[in-house]
Parts: sequence; C-alpha cells; structure tokens
Amino acid sequence: MTQNQSVLEWMEKMKELVCPDRVIWIDGTQEQLESLRAEACKTGEMIKLNEEKLPGCYLHRTAVNDVARVEGRTFICSRSEEDAGPTNHWMEPSKAYEMLYGIAKNSYRGRTMYVIPYSMGPVGSPFAKIGVELTDSIYVVLNMSIMTRVGSEVLETLGNSSDWVRGLHCKCEIDEEKRYICHFPEDNTIISVNSGYGGNVLLGKKCFALRIASFLGKNEGWMAEHMLILGIQNPLGEIKYVAAAFPSACGKTNLAMLVPPEFYRKKGYKIWTVGDDIAWMRIGPDGRLWAINPENGFFGVAPGTNEKSNPNALATTKSGTIFTNVVHNLDDNTVWWEGLDHNPPKNAVDWKGRPWDGTSSKEKGAHPNSRFTAPAKNCPCISPEFENGRGVPISAIIFGGRRARTTPLVYQSRDWNNGVFVGSIMASETTAAATGAVGVVRRDPMAMLPFCGYHMGDYFKHWIDMGERLGDKAPKIFNVNWFRLDDEGHFIWPGFGDNLRVLEWILKRCEDKADAVDTPIGFVPKAEDINLSGLDLTVDTLKTILNVDSADWTKEADGIEEFYQKFGDKLPKELKTELKKLKEKLA
Ligand code: PEP
Ligand code: NA
Ligand code: MN
Repeated sequence: MTQNQSVLEWMEKMKELVCPDRVIWIDGTQEQLESLRAEACKTGEMIKLNEEKLPGCYLHRTAVNDVARVEGRTFICSRSEEDAGPTNHWMEPSKAYEMLYGIAKNSYRGRTMYVIPYSMGPVGSPFAKIGVELTDSIYVVLNMSIMTRVGSEVLETLGNSSDWVRGLHCKCEIDEEKRYICHFPEDNTIISVNSGYGGNVLLGKKCFALRIASFLGKNEGWMAEHMLILGIQNPLGEIKYVAAAFPSACGKTNLAMLVPPEFYRKKGYKIWTVGDDIAWMRIGPDGRLWAINPENGFFGVAPGTNEKSNPNALATTKSGTIFTNVVHNLDDNTVWWEGLDHNPPKNAVDWKGRPWDGTSSKEKGAHPNSRFTAPAKNCPCISPEFENGRGVPISAIIFGGRRARTTPLVYQSRDWNNGVFVGSIMASETTAAATGAVGVVRRDPMAMLPFCGYHMGDYFKHWIDMGERLGDKAPKIFNVNWFRLDDEGHFIWPGFGDNLRVLEWILKRCEDKADAVDTPIGFVPKAEDINLSGLDLTVDTLKTILNVDSADWTKEADGIEEFYQKFGDKLPKELKTELKKLKEKLA
C-alpha cells in the first residue's frame, strides 16, 4: 500500500518482534471493514445488533479488568526524567523499550497484524498529522475507523515523509500487572500492551492527539488541548466559536451538543458541534487562533445519556455505532444503559456477559464507563465546518470545574496571562460517586493533568508564549462552574441547555457589549445581564452564585500556592505574578 521507507522499515521491525501469522493493511474501504465486522461477529468479539432499529451497530464487551484508562500505568518516556515533569509517570526510554518488547515478543502468534494508517484532522488539512497503528484487535480497527480518517488516502498524503507517529498495540492476555501505555515523545512513538479498552488502545485519541501532540505543539508553536469546540449561531446568522476544557464528569459532551432552551430556539439561536474532546489550535494567517477537532467521531460515556440530557448524542448513536460494555436487550437485540429511560429490559445480558433482569437486579447492567463510538457525521448538530481543514476561529476559551462553592457561575480573566493562571488552577471537587473523601479539591490544569506529554511548567510557559504571539487577537479567557450547591446540597444553576445563557454573556463580553463587576478574581456578570427568560430562577438566587467570597478565595489562594510548589523553577514567573496580584487584591 505504500513505498514509504520509514513506514515499511518500522512495520517489518515490529513484524519480526510480534510474529503475526499474516498482515492486513487497512485501506479504508467499506468492503474491507464489512468483512472485518463479519469476522468479529463470527469469533464473538462483537455482536451485531438489530439492523432495523440500530443499523450498522455492534456490541462489544471488554475484559472485566479492562474498563477505563489507567493513569497509574501510563508513562511518558522522555530521555530526561525532568522533561516528563512532576505530573507524569516516567520510565527511561531504553528500559521501557526493552520491557515492552519483552512483553510484545511473539504476542501476535496465530493472529493477524492490522496496519492502520490514520489521519488526525481532515486528510490534507494544514493542521492534520498522520499516524500508523499496528494492532491485533479487529475491535481497535473498527473503532479507529470511526474515530479517525483511515486508509490508503492517508498514505498517499504521507508520501515519503518520515513525519508520522508510530503506534504499536498488543492486546496480549489482558494482564493488568503487565499493562503499559507508554509514550516516547522524542521518537514519535506509542506502545500499548495488555489492554483492549478505548482510551488505552485507540492510539489516535489521548495518546497521540493529546500526549504526543502537546509535545509537538510546544516545539512547533501550536496547541493540542483537551477541549470541546462549539459554534453559537445568533438570530442574525452569525456564528462565533468557543473552545472549552473541563475535567472528567463535568458534562463536556453535553455542552458540545447543547440544545438551546425554547426561548433561545424561538429567537433563532443554534448550536453547532465541532468537537467534544480534543482541539488542535494554530495561529492563522489573520493572526487569530483557529481550531480543528482532529477526531472523526465521538467516544462518549453511555450511562446518563438520554433524550433529555443529550438528545443529539443519543441520535448520533442510532447507526454505525459500536457500543462497549452496555446492557444487551435480548428481546429486541438492542442496547440499554442506566439513565437511558425508566424501562430497563428484563431479558438481558449485563456488561460482564451474565444474564440480567433490569426489573429485579440490584447490580448495574452497564459499566459506569461504558461507551459509544459514533461517527461525527451522524450528529444532528454537527458543524458545517467540521470537515473544513482550515478550522474555525476561536473567540473565547472557557475553563471549568465542579465546585460546590468558591467559584462563581462565570468570570472573565483580566487578560491572557491572567487567563492562563485561571486555567492552571482549574479544579474539581470529588463527588460521592467516586471512592475516597467527598469535597476534596483536585487540581487539573486545563484538564490536561493526565494528557500533557511533557513538563507541565513548560506547558504553562507555552501558553504564555502563545498569548504573546496572539497579542490583541487572542481569544478572551473565561471560567465557568455549573455546579454551585445550595445549603441543602441542590444544584442552583439548571445547567444543560440553559448554559447557553452564560455563553451568551461570554460572547457579549468578547464584543464589548456587556458590562461586568470587577472582583479580585476577575470580571463577573452583573446579575441583570444574564438572561433568565423562561427560567424558574430569581435574580437574587442568581446573585448567590455570582458571588466571590474573600474568605473562600483566600483559602483557595493558599491551595494554589501549595499546588504551584510542585513545578519548582519551571513555574513561569508570569503565573507567580498572577498569584501575587490575586493575593494583593484579596488582602
Ligand atoms: C477514554 O477513557 O478513552 C476517554 C476518551 O476518556 P475521557 O472520556 O475521560 O475523555
Ligand atoms: Na475515561
Ligand atoms: Mn476527554
């Protein structure tokens, strides 16, 4: 399929190592994918679902010990330990290769090696980057074919270039003790062994598009961020784009596919989804920041997705989708998960493959991290710019977290560097759903804690540098918190579609069309400037979540100072200055 020497040489070397019975190049044709689907169904790796109700959809179950990303077994193998930084696990590269090759050796015996050439970003886009993933799993091939652009045209675009990311995945025997997800940023290489779960094995996603790409972005002057991208169309038909970063479990996919409240729909507002997880951003010829979503599908959490919380995501999963670890409804050969509706199937199989009766079982039928892999083109609100290789111009960058108090509904940073500070102190409080103490503040700068492929102090500096280059064309930076609680522990802000009310204020600020209150942390809306039409929320209640409490923030500033110590000399002086300024304003 290619004459590219660097691809062929590496493929031969890996072939000698893992010893497959045969090699199949993924050409991206429907015929080839269809025959792989048929093969996966024959071996039981996938189950074909009801063709009438869910055309082209399949169900897969992972091993029970292989259901999520494993941050503890994820390594950045830079030559120097310092380059991985204090927030990553590190392994010395030659030791890592030796260990990984030891595990990978002969692991494809009796199996097929699939060679997947893929493009992150529309093929040929100036943003796009190419990878080749070797895998022994048809499930990986089929997921990669949804999540990325795969096939011969990718290799044609690559030509003879050696600028591509090497990816080796060996499913092995799913031994947790030998599971490793290793990144070699200096070698453009990813090796993943002993897993068959999404984020660990679909190497284009977290491994390439965030960990490797963040490192490439630093060296090449662009940004790879854990951000959704959405377009907000106003009644005049103008569309403005925002990019937003949130830690897990803050509703990123829901915000990306937001349905405007009725009041806004009637006025003519529309939301366009560009991406729900990753943004690659570059300074365009006009000096503004432009973004693409390098992915081609959505790898979303199924539980909680329903007609109310995210009708667009639900609609996206109605064809050509692979479901992983959800409930199999045997009555009509469809799928179900907790939070889909109030009618769990009675005659079903749970995510572990055991008979399950949703009307009597106390155990959950779907794994809480069960997923859908759905083509972006299925999404009813997919942006018309989705395939546009030049990307979309970003007006605002939004950071967010889950905080019961302290952080107001929304505030705007004073300028770019202050905005980088705001991103660097991003945090969420642990909820009762997770193990461990409730209400503990976990810092997750720019939501990149598990995904930054190099020293996070250098990453902050890269942000500062990008701001300098963008100058007055830089997007404005905001922070949101949908999760403030009242004294009884109820959410005060309705969230979901009503978050558009906050986005509207954000865009007004970007155009100098709204006033604000100057507080120690930045600019907060005047309560009357947030549109509450059609909402059961009083201005007085709104004021309680726009409030910036000095005592809370003084405590917060101490927490930030402690957190910043992690980065030692690598903490940019600009961020030290921002912290100092915050403390002075609070005093
Ligand atoms: C994943 O775990 O594969 C993944 C995509 O993670 P997240 O949902 O946290 O982005
Ligand atoms: Na995850
Ligand atoms: Mn993510």
